[in-house]
Amino acid sequence: MGLHSIKIVFGKFSSIEELDVPDRALFKAAIRAMKSAYAPYSEFPVGAAILLENGEIILGSNQENIAYPSGLCAERVALFAAATQFPDVPIVSLAITTQPQTEKSASEITPCGACRQVMLEYERRHSKDFKVITGAANGPITVFNNAQSLLPLAFFDEALGS
Ligand code: THU
Repeated sequence: MGLHSIKIVFGKFSSIEELDVPDRALFKAAIRAMKSAYAPYSEFPVGAAILLENGEIILGSNQENIAYPSGLCAERVALFAAATQFPDVPIVSLAITTQPQTEKSASEITPCGACRQVMLEYERRHSKDFKVITGAANGPITVFNNAQSLLPLAFFDEALGS
């Protein structure tokens, strides 16, 4: 048996003020998108904003449903909307945010596993890495240079032999 380890590299910023101008603008778009979250069950609003290579910004927010699994995370709402409206345009960056609702809420947010898998597919589809900028609106921000670093040992199409 051999033991292996994986290193994940990411940037950490103490607040959005430390981000560079394009990243800060995208993060602010995610904060605006969060206002459209429909999250009556979790009371956890999430906003996402995608910058495409053609300059378009696509927004998403989490959309819940009384049949809980029918709801969708903000990231996937935005990713699927981007892929619908601009199927051939690669993604430059994706910002994700939440507004902690209680004292106990975490001041950080990172995407769920299903969203990471979906992000990875778009990176692969366009053969282009995109930046993932994530954090609570008033908290520290974590920046990953690509989606792949968020999902080590991912399930890829090679597994299907395709
Ligand atoms: N959620 C997102 O929209 N994005 C994330 O990165 C984490 C979780 C949503 C799903 C659900 O509507 C609520 O947050 C609580 O899990």
